[in-house]
Amino acid sequence: MESRRLGRHQVKVSVLGLGLAALGRPGYITLGHAADLGGNYETAVMEQHAHHVLDTAWAAGICYFDAARSYGRAEAFLASWLQSRQIDPAMITVGSKWGYTYTANWQVQAAKHEVKEHSLPVLQRQLGESRHLLGAYLDLYQIHSATLDSGVLTNRAVLTELAGLKREGLLIGLSLSGAEQAVVLERALEVRLDGVLLFDAVQATWNVLEQAAGAALTAAHEAGLGVIIKEAVANGRLTPRNHQPTFAPKRRIIESLAAAYETTIDALALAFVLAQPWVDVVLSGAATVAHLHSNMAAARLVLRPDTLQQLQALAEPSADYWQTRSHLAWN
Ligand SMILES: NC(=O)c1ccc[n+]([C@@H]2O[C@H](COP(=O)([O-])OP(=O)(O)OC[C@H]3O[C@@H](n4cnc5c(N)ncnc54)[C@H](OP(=O)(O)O)[C@@H]3O)[C@@H](O)[C@H]2O)c1
Repeated sequence: MESRRLGRHQVKVSVLGLGLAALGRPGYITLGHAADLGGNYETAVMEQHAHHVLDTAWAAGICYFDAARSYGRAEAFLASWLQSRQIDPAMITVGSKWGYTYTANWQVQAAKHEVKEHSLPVLQRQLGESRHLLGAYLDLYQIHSATLDSGVLTNRAVLTELAGLKREGLLIGLSLSGAEQAVVLERALEVRLDGVLLFDAVQATWNVLEQAAGAALTAAHEAGLGVIIKEAVANGRLTPRNHQPTFAPKRRIIESLAAAYETTIDALALAFVLAQPWVDVVLSGAATVAHLHSNMAAARLVLRPDTLQQLQALAEPSADYWQTRSHLAWN
């Protein structure tokens, strides 16, 4: 698999990365999560399953892995895999996130799955926890879902702490979510400490259905930030699992395009993101080895300009996209 640098930074990333949100805990919001895990949520079974997916990714040349404190035991599963396979930290790039605390207690259904707080005490506590698990493997630490509401981009104490970590060599990033992604990113690009841009990377949602942050992400790329794309198959909505009647007309178009390339609709959706010149890494959120194989076909696809145009035309209004996402059920 092709690899490159993350933005203007030295670390190496593969064009497809692996996100561990679906692998680290029993409950998640992707369409068929319950079916993927077969109802066996024993920690050791889930850890082995995660290791199997990680082995498959690594063997195929994937060298960027994305976790978060709130993805259940994702950091722990990644750490035990890295240690047991004795992977050299220089061969791999690991990003994680702080700002949400996992509260689901290893249950699929919970009153609250995660609690958000972008404060200095949470940053300090969670960085300690991430470093305890990942040690020298941790390259990039991201604010998890920065928003204007959370106040994190104007929180002097947090920004100063992040600037200190950056001086020590940790890359600093932010992830985005919601219809305001572009506005938040524009603000983030104004955050400078001692004249230097604070953020080294941004992780955002951009896919066939939600393309609103494209211009802001282009600006971030031009400013030298690494650009990581998440939710490239819209949490499963751009996969064979989506049987929603309202999606059927778009599904028919995507299926006929995928058939012309003799590929799957998820690979086509991922290839659409990979074709954007401002993207450094596209995350596969594969929950199984089969998903991963299907997703990885994207790295071999080169889409024609007319195909890109047809896919561009399928975008939804941002507000509709995020409204639908907010109704995805934990399963
Ligand atoms: N705010 C943030 O920072 C944030 C938020 C979300 C995600 N992320 C990161 O981005 C990564 C990807 O996000 P995501 O998993 O939410 O969204 P995604 O990548 O759009 O969706 C991944 C899901 O799509 C389904 N899928 C993929 N290929 C498939 C196939 N061939 N057949 C059937 N189903 C298939 C699977 O779900 P089912 O099998 O369950 O249907 C899989 O878990 C995460 O792992 C995480 O690292 C970050």
